Amino acid sequence: MNNLSKMPKIELHLHLEGAAPPAFIRGLAKEKNIDIGGIFNEDGSYRFTNFWNFLKVYEAACEPLKGPQDFYRLTLAVLEESAASGVLYSETFLSPDFCGGRDLGAWREYLHAITEAATKAEKDFGITLRGIVTPIRHFGPEKARETARCAAETAGGFITGFGIGGDEKSGELKDFLWSFDMAREAGLRITAHAGEWKGPDEVRAAMNDLGAERIGHGVRAIEDMALVDEIAERGVVLEVCPGSNVALGIYSSFRKHPIGEMYDRGVKVTINTDDPPFFHTTMAREYEMLHQAFDWDEAVFATIARTALDAAFCDADTKTRILKTLEQANG
Ligand code: ADE
Ligand code: ZN
Repeated sequence: MNNLSKMPKIELHLHLEGAAPPAFIRGLAKEKNIDIGGIFNEDGSYRFTNFWNFLKVYEAACEPLKGPQDFYRLTLAVLEESAASGVLYSETFLSPDFCGGRDLGAWREYLHAITEAATKAEKDFGITLRGIVTPIRHFGPEKARETARCAAETAGGFITGFGIGGDEKSGELKDFLWSFDMAREAGLRITAHAGEWKGPDEVRAAMNDLGAERIGHGVRAIEDMALVDEIAERGVVLEVCPGSNVALGIYSSFRKHPIGEMYDRGVKVTINTDDPPFFHTTMAREYEMLHQAFDWDEAVFATIARTALDAAFCDADTKTRILKTLEQANG
């Protein structure tokens, strides 16, 4: 037994709806009499066969999440679970698509409920949350514009960033440039899912076309070592989600996952869960699996947590406060 599960952690890549425990979604569906049958295994876990099917199941699981109060409950439940894994600070992807259908007035109400829950969780569990507004790539660039408008109108304070998730094979990143420019002009920091289902060129597009300072996943940069070195030199931060990549079959095991080689090569990697109940993981489990795969010790994990905090999109005062707690805990 080691202390990894208790170590203070910083998470930068977590989808709020993707963090919904299946029992929570089943309970909501029952309360509201909504039939979302077929998305659960016999043991109650989420059922999906591959990434594209996962996206469908994800959207079906969002069906019973119908109003701000549901997102209040969801946020509290998710943050309690993250805090139990030792997470001090978390950034979560929020999609106006699932929070009021990209209507600005509705989005404000959902956001109000989510921030209320975050404030309560900070008091009760000692975890701090910030939000990254995230269009869904396969919903297309037009919807992303509406999402960017929601992001720009609510930028600052709790909403710190803008990203993009969903099916990486749908369209081109540059189709979303208008939305990213709008978000950037509103002062939001930029991240983008890339190099999960497409290769090195997609990571280059995220860095060069969108100006992303962080990349969601980015692991397939490993297929081009010149790109890996460029990522390291430019200090672009990778939001790596090893358990997600293994669960979705991109790599056959933690040992075969490129995070070890990237870390050794000087890339700023961070450790994240993506959609933890879907992938049967937690931040504590990610640490344990990485320890087993690469023999990483507490010093490595402390370095990675510090990298993640440095790359966080929150304001300087929040960062200083979290850093104090991190340093106290890591000695
Ligand atoms: N949305 C939720 N999880 C995702 C993932 N792993 N990749 C892209 N979009 C997602
Ligand atoms: Zn993700």
